[in-house]
Parts: sequence; structure tokens; C-alpha cells
Amino acid sequence: THAQNNLVFNVDAAKTTISKQIYGHFAEHLGHCIYGGFYVGEGNTKIPNTNGVRNDVIDALKKLKIANLRWPGGCFADTYHWKDGIGPKNKRPGMVNAWWGGVTEDNSFGTHDFLNMCELIGTEPYLAGNVGSGTVQDLTDWVQYVNFNGKSPMSDLRQQNGREKPWHVTYWGVGNEAWGCGGNMTPEHYADVYRQYATFMTGWSNETKIFRIASGANSKDYNWTEVLMKKIPLNMLGGLALHHYSVIEWRKKGPAVDFSEQQYFETMQSALFMDSLVTKHSAIMDKYDPEKRVALVVDEWGGWYDVEPGTNPGFLYQQNTMRDAMIAGATLNIFHNHSDRVRMANLAQTINVLQAVLLTNEEKMILTPTYHVMEMYNVHQDAKLVPLTIKCNNYVVGNEKLPAISASASKDSTGAMHISLVNIDAKAAQDISITLEGGNYKTVGGRILTSAKLQDHNTFEQPAKIKPAPFQGAALKGKTLSVKMPPFSVVVLELK
Ligand code: AHR
Repeated sequence: THAQNNLVFNVDAAKTTISKQIYGHFAEHLGHCIYGGFYVGEGNTKIPNTNGVRNDVIDALKKLKIANLRWPGGCFADTYHWKDGIGPKNKRPGMVNAWWGGVTEDNSFGTHDFLNMCELIGTEPYLAGNVGSGTVQDLTDWVQYVNFNGKSPMSDLRQQNGREKPWHVTYWGVGNEAWGCGGNMTPEHYADVYRQYATFMTGWSNETKIFRIASGANSKDYNWTEVLMKKIPLNMLGGLALHHYSVIEWRKKGPAVDFSEQQYFETMQSALFMDSLVTKHSAIMDKYDPEKRVALVVDEWGGWYDVEPGTNPGFLYQQNTMRDAMIAGATLNIFHNHSDRVRMANLAQTINVLQAVLLTNEEKMILTPTYHVMEMYNVHQDAKLVPLTIKCNNYVVGNEKLPAISASASKDSTGAMHISLVNIDAKAAQDISITLEGGNYKTVGGRILTSAKLQDHNTFEQPAKIKPAPFQGAALKGKTLSVKMPPFSVVVLELK
């Protein structure tokens, strides 16, 4: 027997919208994310595709309701020259992917390919501009090329290349990790560079108001946020980024599948640290922007482990287990609960790289546990956050502990309430008692994601080992909801 977990949801106090843009993804020219992942080439007769983009991928991402897709990097973005990726494919120059494996690529997947693909998936593109090795003119031209509706050299070129109407791209990253691979800049220097780029990016979007996102802090570099907020005028800044990976130690990341409980615990410590990070970065932003006009954009997050044995270390290919489902469920709950400031996020990365939602192998494609969590959770998109207070048991390993339960809830436009719960504890089931303040719900249903072992994962041979199942462990009596969760499980409840 153990203490109870008590959650109180103040249903009547729901007012902040959980932006669906929190459900964004990230596609870099890295390993087999683009080439072999999204894109298999127009001439491919073995793998069904639309303009070279895999049909199975398009279908899976449509179902997932991914809100936005960030491209082409990552570190790659600050080496990418977009003009090399337009026009007839056989005339495009090649390039060497200096950050990721040193492989030569032929630029066959470029701006048109990416933006048309976003239309097929039904997601908003988020273009990451090259600040590190590009020019202000290049980035300005890119905005003009994709967004300008009048007659201009760049819109003429776009039309020559087969696209009549602009794509209306709203989200623009002004460089990536400017403190590191994006140019090793100081925050003071980057703030000035940002202001310069941001100035010339405007004006070419006569129908779309562009949303500019500054390259943000590396995890707990609070000074980065402080300097940028101080030096960049609020009206030039749509969002400020933040990157944080769930990693045990950069030099000793450990395996993606055959990890120990201690390694699981340390991964979850790093994942749950996101709560403290967004709290502290938000507090700094509040000083300069009390009205919360600028969004905190966590445009890289996820678990990072050693690559699978025998794969190219520069390709960052890793399997995805129930541990990743725990990271996803807990992190999304953190974002929801901070949705007044965290209004956009991007999981790294969509296919075959880091904490992927999809893995491909030739004509085969599988959905990972992370995919299932994001699919179960997408009911929260653009719903109103229901504030929560939580008292819960600890999950203890050795001398250290973590809260066993992670939770969040929202009310959608039909009035239905969704509660997402994660039992992080690898060993103990948890009984949860939930009090609903306000609301008038009569029924509860739900789905659960769990498995026999924490290390379980889907494979190309056994693609549906882990998938959501109907959940029978919740009972509603008046204003009290009782839930029993098995160890390492994710549950999403629906109350009507
Ligand atoms: O997602 C992999 C890499 O991690 C990205 O390219 C970079 O921005 C970050 O360091």
C-alpha cells in the first residue's frame, strides 16, 4: 500500500489556449530524415510516393495532425543555400553535409519540394534561415521568393520554377543555435545580427504577417535569454527559441534500447528538467515582456541516445521505446501547463533521427511509441488549459526521486474535457484520485499506451507491439474520478 496521488482540476478556470503549434515537428537534412525518410525520389517505383514524398509518411503525419514542420535544420540550416535547391533537379549543384556524416547530397529536395509537401500533409512550414554562413540578401530573397504576391525578381523566378501563387510561410527562424553550430556568437553579437536580419525580412509578405523566431538558449543558458530580451525590440520578435534534449551525459548517452532502470531514471530527470527550464526562461521574459507577446518556442526537444550499433554515428539513428513514450507524455504536459508562454515546440526529429515518430526501412514504415503518444494527445490542440494542483507519490531509485505522476488537462470547443496522465514509475502501479472543480461530466472513456517491458519497442518485424488500447481503469462518481495506472504508462481520458 502506498500514499494516494491527489489531483484537483479547476474546470471552470480554463482560459489559456494550448496552441496547437506545440505539436510541431522537425525535419533536418540529417541521416535518413529527408532522403530515405520523407523523400524517396520521383522516379521511385518500389515505394508509393507523391512527387517523391512517401505516401505512407504523408498519411501517418496527417493522422498525427502535426501543426508545423521545421526545415532544413538544425545545424544544417546555417550551411544551406536555398538557391541551390530550386529549378530543374538535374542542374542543381551538390553540396557536402558538413555537420552530419560528411555525405554529399544532390539538393533534389529543396524549397518547392518541402513547401508542396507541407501542403500535402496539411501542416504549416517553419523555415529556418541561414544566418551563420548566409547573407541578409539571401534570407530576404527567400522570403520574397516564397511569400511575395506581386511582381518581383524572386516571385518571377518562383513562377518560372512552376509555382504561381506564394506559399504564405508564417514561421521563420533567424539562424539556429547561434551560440554553437550557427556561428559561435555571443548573445550580444547575435542580438545585433538578429535585428539586422529581422529588419530586411519584412515587406515581402503582403498577405502573410511573418513570425520571426530568434535562435534561443542552449538549455539552462539563462543569460542568453536575458541579453536577447533586453536588446531586441519586442515588435521585432515573434518567438524566442530554446533547445533542450533529454540526455544522460553528452559523452555517455547510453543505448536507446538496452538501458538500465538507472539510465531510464536519469533520462527522465533530464526530461522533467524542462519544467524548471521553461519556468525560469519565462520568468526572464516576463521582466521585459509582461504581456507575454513573445512566444517561447522549444524548437528542439526529445531523447538523445547512442546511435544503433553498426549505423553511421553522424546519422543519429536510434530506436524508440516506452521510455520515449514517457518523455513525450511528460514533456507535452509541461508545455500544456506553461501554454501562456510556450506557444510552439518541435520534437527532434520526425523520421529516422533521434526521438522519431516514424522509422522507415526501404518500403516499410513503422509508428513509434512516441507517435502514439502524440496522436493520443492531439485532442489538446487549441483547447483551453484546465489549471491543476497535484500531490503525488515519488518514484525512487537509489537516493533520488522524481514525481511519479505527470498530468495536464484541457476543455475543447465542444465542452469535452481531456486529461493526460503519465505514470513515470517503472515499478509501481499508481492509484490516482482526481477532484473536478466545476464542469458537469457524466461519462469517462480513454486510451492507454503501455507494454510488458520499459525497453519494448516496435520493429519492422513486429510493427504493432506497442499501440494504444482502450482504457478500463477509470471510474467517475460525481465530481471524483478514480484512475488506476500500471507502471510506465500513458493514459488520455475523455470526459463528457
Ligand atoms: O537535432 C540535431 C541537432 O541538435 C541539430 O541540428 C542542432 O540544432 C542541435 O544541436
